[in-house]
Amino acid sequence: MIKFPRVLLITGTPGVGKTRVSKALTERLGGLYISLTDIVTKENLRLEVDSERDTVVADLHRLSDRVSDIISESSCDVVVDGHYASEVVSSNVVSYAFVLRIEPDKLRQRLRERGYSEGKVLENMASEVLDVCLFDAVAQYGVEKVDEIEVTHKDVDEVVEEIIEVLNGRTKAKSGKVDWLGKLEEEDRLSELSTYLNWL
Ligand SMILES: Nc1ncnc2c1ncn2[C@@H]1O[C@H](COP(=O)(O)OP(=O)(O)O)[C@@H](O)[C@H]1O
Ligand SMILES: [Mg+2]
Repeated sequence: MIKFPRVLLITGTPGVGKTRVSKALTERLGGLYISLTDIVTKENLRLEVDSERDTVVADLHRLSDRVSDIISESSCDVVVDGHYASEVVSSNVVSYAFVLRIEPDKLRQRLRERGYSEGKVLENMASEVLDVCLFDAVAQYGVEKVDEIEVTHKDVDEVVEEIIEVLNGRTKAKSGKVDWLGKLEEEDRLSELSTYLNWL
């Protein structure tokens, strides 16, 4: 049974399109948008800066408390945007977690355009190939609440439309649809994996 207002997570590897999809979905639902990255930055919820991995380590406890306060005060649907959303929002409040998936080659192109270092690009490609965000979401919320969406060849509106179909009960949330390892194997490219995996 879905409780209203709904809490919807948009997760996936950095570069997959979470922020654009989350904002478009929020507008469509007349909801409240929460970016985990923005909260961490604005409220200084950092534990440390990991300079070797060129990343900020968020204080997940404080972030989780803060997000839980925002959710409990909201009278409209809440859309949470973040690649570690599954570690922050507790299962009893989440209606659905949507995990966006993108072909690793396309992810590489997006992250290079964003100016990420080559190490950061490969680390994120490894996460995408190994289903890291999907695994976290299923482990946290169970298969009934997790919907995986392949976005590689879809525009933002099409992705939002797929989400709405699930929210309206016209499509059942489903995971296990994407298999990048299988695709690499089919294309006889499994040997490329060792270049990514070194970065995890
Ligand atoms: N469906 C899409 N089609 C084309 N470009 C997209 C799509 N979604 C996102 N992008 C582009 O990809 C880049 C990363 O998107 P963003 O929403 O910032 O991803 P994330 O929040 O997951 O890191 C941006 O340049 C964005 O404009
Ligand atoms: Mg983003």
